[in-house]
Amino acid sequence: MSSKRAKIISIVNQKGGVGKTTTTVNLAAALAMLKKKVLLVDLDPQGNASTGFGVPLSQRQKTIYEILIGECEIDKALIPTKFSDLKIITSTVDLSACEVELVGAEKREYLLRKSLKNIVHDFDYILIDCPPSLGILTINALVASDSVLIPMQCEFFSLEGLSHLLTTLDLVKDNLNQNLAINGIVLTMHDRRNKLTEQVEIDVRDFLGEKVFHHVIPRNVKLSEAPSHGLPGISYDPKSSGAVAYFGLANEVLEREKKKAL
Ligand SMILES: Nc1ncnc2c1ncn2[C@@H]1O[C@H](COP(=O)(O)OP(=O)(O)OP(=O)(O)O)[C@@H](O)[C@H]1O
Ligand SMILES: [Mg+2]
Repeated sequence: MSSKRAKIISIVNQKGGVGKTTTTVNLAAALAMLKKKVLLVDLDPQGNASTGFGVPLSQRQKTIYEILIGECEIDKALIPTKFSDLKIITSTVDLSACEVELVGAEKREYLLRKSLKNIVHDFDYILIDCPPSLGILTINALVASDSVLIPMQCEFFSLEGLSHLLTTLDLVKDNLNQNLAINGIVLTMHDRRNKLTEQVEIDVRDFLGEKVFHHVIPRNVKLSEAPSHGLPGISYDPKSSGAVAYFGLANEVLEREKKKAL
């Protein structure tokens, strides 16, 4: 077995529509294009990341749901994508049953962590796209992860939501996964001409300092068009401002990793 061990990063924010899936899909693809071996785990019953990579429902027989309920080995559920170094574990709406079905399960917070152990040496990065809630699925992601990456939209209520999320992360750290770190906060759908965006950015950078990524993701229509073509924005239009920003973010993630290793 190789000594390589994947960095496991959850992309999380309990607020809906802030750019979690767009960030997961584009970061995963950018890291794969930078020659990293990447696994994307779609942990959202909406299945947006699976659709974003163009995996049709007919190819989603063995999904993260079957893995969590113990009906499928994780290595049987790895689906190839158009990127040779990027695989995906898909999801469908079936996954929403987990919240109820796992109520009585033993060590139910540790199910994903246990499964990922079997493949953690096969990848450089495992990115987990979380649903917009802090239920059992997200808790499984946080328990399985080394760190979290938080996409945040620069809006009036964003900071309140963020402090609630940080409290939850502390609870998980204290009770379930003491190694959980904050990888970083990335500002999404950023609009430089908007005064509110500017003010929220100043507040977030004051509050969280170096934890906030230098690169911000601009609002860019190419990023929102790309999923309907089954492609990440970075390959749908590599020259678009959104694609360039996600490449920048991927490089910043790698640089942070290098700094930590020194
Ligand atoms: N930088 C961007 N520029 C323009 N549109 C964007 C950008 N980022 C995301 N979007 C669009 O905003 C919507 C929400 O984005 P996304 O699905 O990534 O958010 P999410 O946090 O994963 O949502 P959910 O909480 O429902 O899972 C989508 O339609 C997406 O295409
Ligand atoms: Mg999503």
